[in-house]
Amino acid sequence: MLIDGHGRKVDYLRVSVTERCNFRCQYCMPEKPFSWVPREELLSYEELFEFIKVSIDEGVKKVRITGGEPLLREGLDSFIKMISTYKDDIDLALTTNGFLLPKSAQKLADAGLKRINVSLDSLKPDVAAKVAQKDVLKTVLKGIQAADDAGLKIKINCVPMKGINDNELVDIIDFCKEKGYQVRFIEYMENDHASKYAKGLNSEEIQELIKKSYNFEKLEREGSSPSQEYKLEDGYVFGIIEPHKDDFCATCNRIRLTASGVLIPCLYYEDAQSIKEAIKNKDIPKAVAILKDVLANKPEKNKWTEDSEVSARAFYETGG
Ligand code: 5AD
Ligand code: SF4
Repeated sequence: MLIDGHGRKVDYLRVSVTERCNFRCQYCMPEKPFSWVPREELLSYEELFEFIKVSIDEGVKKVRITGGEPLLREGLDSFIKMISTYKDDIDLALTTNGFLLPKSAQKLADAGLKRINVSLDSLKPDVAAKVAQKDVLKTVLKGIQAADDAGLKIKINCVPMKGINDNELVDIIDFCKEKGYQVRFIEYMENDHASKYAKGLNSEEIQELIKKSYNFEKLEREGSSPSQEYKLEDGYVFGIIEPHKDDFCATCNRIRLTASGVLIPCLYYEDAQSIKEAIKNKDIPKAVAILKDVLANKPEKNKWTEDSEVSARAFYETGG
């Protein structure tokens, strides 16, 4: 079992397979970065898998593949197959912008993927295009449907932004309710790479807007989910991810691996260590020692709880 320096059990590994993306979301990567990590510096799928295997052996129960946009990296279905074959009861999920799902959803499900989180910030084509800086809505909706048809369990992520999609939160709830998907509104996390015009809504502001149409109650927090859940009178449950509050961190059970082999203990934090050399040298004990050291130094909480804090870490590198 993996335990961090604050006594939290860590059993959830998020693995980013690429930092590249085909969208340019305002809150994440509004401009193409000055340079990408060169492909030859990335760990291969086989190398990433070596680390995933030891993490599973050490007690990881859930693996989520992220990016950038993970479906941009070729052969993702074979990578998923490697993981699902190693341990078939692993909770295996993917976070994607959905654009490439129309063609790949069935292949991913066949490879053993169980769950998928898709970003959906607006149901209006022009607003979605403004957020992602590309005409994406129609294809993303097709992708979500393809994932649904393939039997994948779907969650929707939406980042509410002032003056952009804050008049659509109820419409997004209604859409997800009808389709049977849970929606999670994510408070915008301030970071250096986002557009300087990006202004997020906090949880209270999000709740105020939803309250205009629906009554709901706050549910008890359960497990390690970063999402605080709220239940509408008809039983539909939506979530709000509230990184600006401490309880977001109190039950944190996760650790992140980037595509170039950097182990990141916290979404906010700058401290990280590379397992790349250890994995390339097939020195598994060394990789495990680094993993345990990173866990020992996992911070107690992020810094967004402090006023006007801005992270220097790029979301497209850490995988959100
Ligand atoms: N703040 C909040 N959420 C973000 N995401 C990306 N960048 C940010 C940010 N700065 C979200 C995306 C995606 C998820 C993985 O993270 O919308 O759904
Ligand atoms: Fe791409 Fe996701 Fe970042 Fe948008 S939030 S630019 S889809 S990685």
